[in-house]
Amino acid sequence: MSETLAILGGERAVPEGMVKPWPPIEEIDRKMVLASLADNQHTVGANYTELDKEFAAWAGVKHSLFCNSGTAALHMAVAACECGCGDEVIVPAYTWPSSATCCLHHNVIPVFVDIEWSTMNLDPDRIEAAITPRTKAIIVAHLHGLSADMGRIMAIARKHGLVVIEDCCQSHGTTFEGRRVGTFGDVAAFSCNQNKCFCSGEGGFFVSNDLERFERGKTLWYFGEHRRPEGGTTYQAYGLGWMYRSSDLVAAFARAQLTRLDKHLADLKANAERLHARLADVPHLIPPVVPAGYGHNWYNYTIRFDMDALGHAEDAAAFRGKIVRALNAEGVGNGVWQAWPVPEMTAIAAKNAYGRGCPWACRESNVDYSLDQFPVAQKHCDWHTGITMPLRSPNTPKVAERLADGIRKVMENIDQVDQVE
Ligand SMILES: Cc1ncc(COP(=O)(O)O)c(C=O)c1O
Repeated sequence: MSETLAILGGERAVPEGMVKPWPPIEEIDRKMVLASLADNQHTVGANYTELDKEFAAWAGVKHSLFCNSGTAALHMAVAACECGCGDEVIVPAYTWPSSATCCLHHNVIPVFVDIEWSTMNLDPDRIEAAITPRTKAIIVAHLHGLSADMGRIMAIARKHGLVVIEDCCQSHGTTFEGRRVGTFGDVAAFSCNQNKCFCSGEGGFFVSNDLERFERGKTLWYFGEHRRPEGGTTYQAYGLGWMYRSSDLVAAFARAQLTRLDKHLADLKANAERLHARLADVPHLIPPVVPAGYGHNWYNYTIRFDMDALGHAEDAAAFRGKIVRALNAEGVGNGVWQAWPVPEMTAIAAKNAYGRGCPWACRESNVDYSLDQFPVAQKHCDWHTGITMPLRSPNTPKVAERLADGIRKVMENIDQVDQVE
């Protein structure tokens, strides 16, 4: 039955005000942040040191260092791997730019590998062709909350003597064959920025089970000083360092949210599964897949539109933009996560991070970023959109049902989308 889309003046599928904001703020958040404020140690206070212990226990790792972003954690992870100037690190062609710029921060060259269409993560079949004598590590990003194929990736890494860095910024609680991501590789990075399933406003964790690597990475945390948060300072730069420390106030907020992280993840799962169940037969919609043995955390419910069947293969990104706007008008909050494969981003494509062509020019390099190597990432970038916040706590499966109604309405009336500006 034809219905007028909200963007063309019809009624919204999701009523105004129905979707509640993330994250839920409760009494414990206020209490812990105000207690930190009332204390006199606003840098590394009790909340900071306790948070590291609590997060390590939650994530199932031995060592955790709270820092001011997932990007900082990734940089520390690269530093932990003894990568040097001009060395190469394998990175998925589709990910957040930090998964690649963390290499540039350390004067290391990212080498991109295309993704799998089904999981939207690093394609294990293409990794070995990208390995050269200069390759030192593989960065694996578990995107949208779904693990990469850690069985095959770890086997390839071990065969070639490569270090594995897990980018878990989107994958708190995600599992592969029953085991949490962040525990497979040598080092890992988590984010807890506003959008993440674990939110402290901004923040991140650099984690490892390997004390030596952990110590090496953490040198960057505070001006090159080599110390734990609870240790004293000698004002010596023992190595090249940055200022990646956060504050006790943020740590207090993070600790308060951590007390409900499992509940928030369970709510998200219930909501995403309700949405998923209702989208099975929506025309021209490609819902996400969860292969057997994978435990999704549903950070981003990523859908794709079949642009071939819709007759928009040639102008896929532009037509996708119209669908995104039509969905938003229905109250289905959604957005394109990455519109470009990372090698297409200017900072990378221009091969000039630190000026004078560094790090590519520091050591003769013939790394090739031509985009025809990444057809799957390109197609995914043009065809997808994602739903994040409306599926988070305190929203419920009832909200998810309305989101499904909105998606079905737009896709069943796709001819009207042609009229959208
Ligand atoms: C996959 C991925 N890696 C890294 C990051 C960087 O995290 P942050 O924003 O905390 O620096 C993000 C954040 O958006 C991300 O999604």
